[in-house]
Amino acid sequence: MISGFRAMEWAGSSDGRPLLRLIDQRKLPARVEYVECRTSSEVAEAIRNMVVRGAPAIGAAAAFGLVLGAMEAAAEAGTGGSLEAIREGFEARCRTMAGTRPTAVNLFWAIERMRSRFEALLPLGAQAMVDGLESEARAIADEDVSVNRRIGEIGAAVVRDGDGILTHCNTGSLATVGYGTALGVIRAAREQGKQIRVYASETRPFLQGARLTAWELLQDGIPVTLITDSMAADAMKRGLVQIVVVGADRIAANGDVVNKIGTYAAAVLARVHRIPFYVAAPLSTIDLKVARGADVPIEERPASEVTHIFGVPVAPEGVEVLNPAFDVTPAELVTGIITERGIARPPYHLSLPALFRDGP
Ligand code: MRU
Repeated sequence: MISGFRAMEWAGSSDGRPLLRLIDQRKLPARVEYVECRTSSEVAEAIRNMVVRGAPAIGAAAAFGLVLGAMEAAAEAGTGGSLEAIREGFEARCRTMAGTRPTAVNLFWAIERMRSRFEALLPLGAQAMVDGLESEARAIADEDVSVNRRIGEIGAAVVRDGDGILTHCNTGSLATVGYGTALGVIRAAREQGKQIRVYASETRPFLQGARLTAWELLQDGIPVTLITDSMAADAMKRGLVQIVVVGADRIAANGDVVNKIGTYAAAVLARVHRIPFYVAAPLSTIDLKVARGADVPIEERPASEVTHIFGVPVAPEGVEVLNPAFDVTPAELVTGIITERGIARPPYHLSLPALFRDGP
């Protein structure tokens, strides 16, 4: 918890059974409402329909969802049920979770981590397996907050006193378990006493910048100015922006950055205006198995997100629409990638693998 709210809470319900409580990010900032997920399929649905979003938050939510999934699989197999039956039930839940959103690699990273823990624990019996998975999910959530704090500490060094910082989408306490990645850098710079101003681009069509980032920063008392995405070039030309810091959903081995649609545009503009462009992300967002950004599956979302705003049509009925949720920023436009193990610099095909080789 950073801003007086918890976006995600693993809690017990009145009947003593665990549940995952998620702030409903679709309703913010108009209403602060929570969705309570009592089954793994309810967690999967919450990820799919954007109740919870942001790469690290999706990963942590999926981990808790798989704790529920493991309990369901054990209950279905019944007392004395075979380990193979429990495994089949658990694997089915892993597949459902993996089918929710295709782009952010943190989802698959968290599922793999839970799956390998499951395999290690299953021979000890159903109860030990469920207890162990619960500890693992809690560890994923706790580590996310400490990793973000570290990213913030490291990244704050590239932010200078007086900087105007452009950020895109939402990378804060809502998009993570707490503190945030790019917003973590901003929070840390502020905690160090730097006088900064954030320019938050609204992030059409889902409006994560307007609805979520502006809301978080206002709560923290960090100076923020909301701009539409199309105002970024003008803001740079006017000298309002000295640095761009964004998050990522997946970073390929060559340093290409897959992030919210509009990130590529911001990177191109930063290059033209000679403004440094930084990406802040945990190691769990770096996917060395993927060679280039072009190999990452990009989620295409419903046309209605573009043709309607809060249910009100803003385009003629029947018009063809493109709605890719993410784009690829080529590595050559990225000044540095801020991680919990330091800032990777070009050439990324060398600096990114080195982050994984270095000790903790
Ligand atoms: O579609 P979303 O809202 O899940 O996309 C979120 C982003 O693109 C974020 O920038 C990214 O996940 C990093 S969040 C720390």
